[in-house]
Amino acid sequence: MADLITMDDLTNEEIVELLDTAQRLLPVAKGDVYAPLLQGKVLGNLFFENSTRTRMSFETAMKRLGGEVLNLSSIGSSVAKGETLYDTMQMVNGYSDIAVIRHPRQGAAQYSADAVEIPILNAGDGAGNHPTQTMLDLFTIREAHGTLEGLNVMLVGDLRFGRTTHSLSHALVRFGATLMLVSPKSLRMPAEIVSDLRARGKDVTETENLSAEINSADVIYMTRIQKERFPDEDEYTKVAGTYKLTAGDLDGAKGSMIVMHPLPRVNELCASVDSTKHARYFEQAFNGVPTRMALLCRSLGIKVPKKVA
Ligand code: NCD
Repeated sequence: MADLITMDDLTNEEIVELLDTAQRLLPVAKGDVYAPLLQGKVLGNLFFENSTRTRMSFETAMKRLGGEVLNLSSIGSSVAKGETLYDTMQMVNGYSDIAVIRHPRQGAAQYSADAVEIPILNAGDGAGNHPTQTMLDLFTIREAHGTLEGLNVMLVGDLRFGRTTHSLSHALVRFGATLMLVSPKSLRMPAEIVSDLRARGKDVTETENLSAEINSADVIYMTRIQKERFPDEDEYTKVAGTYKLTAGDLDGAKGSMIVMHPLPRVNELCASVDSTKHARYFEQAFNGVPTRMALLCRSLGIKVPKKVA
């Protein structure tokens, strides 16, 4: 099946193969080489929630491979007139060859995939999953550490509503990572995800303390408190600003440790970290281009040659 709704849609072998393909596509992603592998193909970019990186990197990925992009958002479309997601998807099915969807409701990507013939890539469904982000996160980790196997990874922040951490934690334990889940009590990773991680993986520890394990980490993955998912503002205010990672916090960290963040950041990741050798988040965001190129090719059944260009 060509859809990508959760990381369960990919085997470990497929993940590695996609990362290898993304690696080969790097010169195309950077614009150094033009490889029109997706000429004549149309991507429907459907964003019912805000996005900078995901939408733009999918669009760049498609265009640098010679394809076309149709953009739809809830503003300026018939969604504002009350058109259902089902009906909207029927239109997209007719106008494009593949679609990327981001939606505030958990389950909306699966619902869309069930409603149409064309492949659907989940670009974030509420507090559910964000598997294309996980692919670029894994790409970034592999670039830095040369492997995905057996790393010590801290996931920090809003693990309850943060969909990037739901997809990433699942993928990481499948590659034998040891996970440290760092969050305020009220924003702990959902219990069913934690028990699934424990059933599959190695150690999964939950704590509220960010500083304790920094020195043994290979990856620190910071996340934003997901303000828009809180039922009320007071609850948000209680936890906003819980974590603030500064350059000074990293003094005893391993030299090879990388700091990641799916972005946007609010105040959990200080600008002082930007100039340390550990910062990897801007590169991480760029890596959305080659990895999404690989995902688009896979879902459209386009083989990427061993030697691109
Ligand atoms: C994330 C998301 O939308 O879940 N952003 C992204 O895609 N890079 C993280 C976030 O919004 O905090």
